[in-house]
Amino acid sequence: MITARGLTKRYGDTTAVDTIDFTVAPGTVTGFLGPNGAGKSTTMRMVLGLDRPSAGSVTVNGRSYRDHPAPLREVGALLEAKAIHGGRSAYHHLLWLAKSNGIPRRRVDEVIGLVGLDEVAGQRAGTFSLGMGQRLGIAAALLGDPDVLLFDEPVNGLDPEGIRWIRTLIRNLAADGRTVFVSSHLMSEMALTADHLLVVGRGRILADTSMAGFIAENSTEHVYVRSPHGARLTEELRAAGWRVEATDDGGLAVYGADLEQVGAMAGSHGLHLYELRKIQASLEEAFMRLTAESVEFHAGVPTVPEPAAAEATTHLTPAGV
Ligand SMILES: Nc1ncnc2c1ncn2[C@@H]1O[C@H](COP(=O)(O)OP(=O)(O)OP(=O)(O)O)[C@@H](O)[C@H]1O
Ligand SMILES: [Mg+2]
Repeated sequence: MITARGLTKRYGDTTAVDTIDFTVAPGTVTGFLGPNGAGKSTTMRMVLGLDRPSAGSVTVNGRSYRDHPAPLREVGALLEAKAIHGGRSAYHHLLWLAKSNGIPRRRVDEVIGLVGLDEVAGQRAGTFSLGMGQRLGIAAALLGDPDVLLFDEPVNGLDPEGIRWIRTLIRNLAADGRTVFVSSHLMSEMALTADHLLVVGRGRILADTSMAGFIAENSTEHVYVRSPHGARLTEELRAAGWRVEATDDGGLAVYGADLEQVGAMAGSHGLHLYELRKIQASLEEAFMRLTAESVEFHAGVPTVPEPAAAEATTHLTPAGV
């Protein structure tokens, strides 16, 4: 369990983390989602005692990191920037970490096997590829068999096989009953791994919700229809019990009905249609809407909204012909 209360970090004039409260519960994967510069890494560094809060507190299993006598046995972490002595072999890097926390040597062999680095354990860590480095970082995180695990952007730069491996590992750690806190700036990644979602922007919590709740709330579907008989069609659709809203471009958004129902309704009244399609808001769009105000760095070119991912377009010839 990780508990933050009024947690704040200022760097000069920048407030990287702004009075946040949250709890990360055991047995679930909690996704920590936010755009670049939102304060995710800073928060994680404070959990790990690598940065001192300007105000407030954060504890792991009821104590601050520094107060745990063998912290690697309580919390394991894979941080964005790896602090590995490049000249040391993977094995000796892990052995040194293990010794510093009273962890037996056999556990080093165990974690090397667990992350699939057996064949390169004797190689200097400085020669490792990004994927191998991530695996070594994860081996270090798992070394003390801790109940609480933090992963800062663990899939960054990995190939598809590595990404799948990390996702499965993260899910299994939570299924074991551990507390798993994973950051990402990609909603799509979170949707695949997290049970719970903590969204941050400019150092503040924007949402603290179950993943299922976020999906239910934000991936609403509706039917878009455009007709020269908009007023009449609106009347008929409303009479059938569906909610209808006019859109900015002169079309109609119909909620609660499916494509076939709207098409049949228009056809049965001889109303021509110019366009009929299903619109599904993607989770990525929902995340972008939520964090739009708090994005620190916007690209210098006008952004064109991407078409919704699951959009079925049906162009009809005039109905009833
Ligand atoms: N050591 C530091 N000194 C000064 N400012 C810092 C420092 N570390 C972070 N910041 C600032 O704090 C804010 C939050 O940064 P942080 O790295 O926590 O964001 P993040 O959510 O991890 O972003 P990213 O997705 O890019 O990793 C940013 O404005 C950043 O510039
Ligand atoms: Mg970061």
